[in-house]
Amino acid sequence: PVNGALATHHHLNREPVLHPASAPAAAAISGASTPASTSSPGPVSAEAYFASHVAPKSLPENAEKIRAFVDRHMHEGRRVVLVTSGGTTVPLETLTVRFIDNFSAGTRGATSAEYFLEQGYAVIFMHRQFSLQPYSRHYSHTKNCFLEFMEADEDGIHVMPTYVEKMRSILGKYRETQKAGTLLSLEFVTVHDYLFLLREAAQIISKMDVHAMYYLAAAVSDFFIPADKMAEHKIQSGDGLLNLSMDQVPKILKPLVNDWTPKAFIISFKLETDEALLPMKSRQALKRYGHQIVIGNLLTTRKRVVHLIDMEGESEIRLTAEEDEVQHIEIESRIVPELIQRHSEWIEACGKRGECG
Ligand code: PMT
Repeated sequence: PVNGALATHHHLNREPVLHPASAPAAAAISGASTPASTSSPGPVSAEAYFASHVAPKSLPENAEKIRAFVDRHMHEGRRVVLVTSGGTTVPLETLTVRFIDNFSAGTRGATSAEYFLEQGYAVIFMHRQFSLQPYSRHYSHTKNCFLEFMEADEDGIHVMPTYVEKMRSILGKYRETQKAGTLLSLEFVTVHDYLFLLREAAQIISKMDVHAMYYLAAAVSDFFIPADKMAEHKIQSGDGLLNLSMDQVPKILKPLVNDWTPKAFIISFKLETDEALLPMKSRQALKRYGHQIVIGNLLTTRKRVVHLIDMEGESEIRLTAEEDEVQHIEIESRIVPELIQRHSEWIEACGKRGECG
């Protein structure tokens, strides 16, 4: 999707990406008096991206967690799904004060993760830091603050009686998941973190004898400032205008499908705002990357309608107004069982050919 709002933050201890001493400083960013650089001729390949950027410091530790998690659940006979969730950011400075963000609260990913867990999958939940999480999402959004559900009296603090039943059910599932150890949460912030973590996870999982699904619901930045062109320090506002020149983020679905994990069952999402474009763009993605399913959704209706596109054709999952507004059914409770069914059929079909993993 298009990169979203320009945001500022004060976490100045963010991990820097590569900034070789010899690199031109901030060639991609300039004030009004300096013309912006347009040095990049075209999209960089995934290979070139990884070769020219340093991996996040947390990668080896996350890799170990993934290996141990998948190994355990493979031996316990569970299928594994890697869910990506939330939006990636693009920093404008190495010591980041400002960044460009991507739209996504993480609702799709966190909600879907719960339904996968309920169906017995082990879930690697790769999410944007501070985005919605399975289970706690019910009480962590600004309009669902947990304090709204509590009351205090002389005996202590309690959940208000009206909310007890729902909270008991969510708490029960949360505790069950903790006990079973079926949820592994891993964080990303920048598109850089995301790309390295996804590649690492895919390469680890593909080497293991497990039936894996990838459910790529994250909203990934399309443009970024390469490490060697990024300003190190906070960009000063004295010059007035800020000109940005950004490179295209490599499309990692291609290497994911073809190289990193060729035997996995992969679902990507396509978000559009123009209804007329959605079917064509979704079909195009399926054809271009050759994976199993594209789920098309529109920004305005994504909680009520999604389109599933695969090589066989297209189908739609749609909630009625009654289901959506009165019964408060979550569309993910329909999407996930449908995907699990298709995953089973796919495993069976490729198992017969001796090809799937
Ligand atoms: O979290 P919510 O607020 O509930 O919102 C959910 C959602 C609308 C964000 C979600 O349902 C959704 O549509 N996510 C995908 C958003 C999108 O359009 O992504 P994209 O166009 O950047 O990428 C399309 C697919 O290609 C994605 O599955 C992505 O994993 C993949 N991709 C993207 C960029 C990139 N460089 N390489 C990729 O392979």
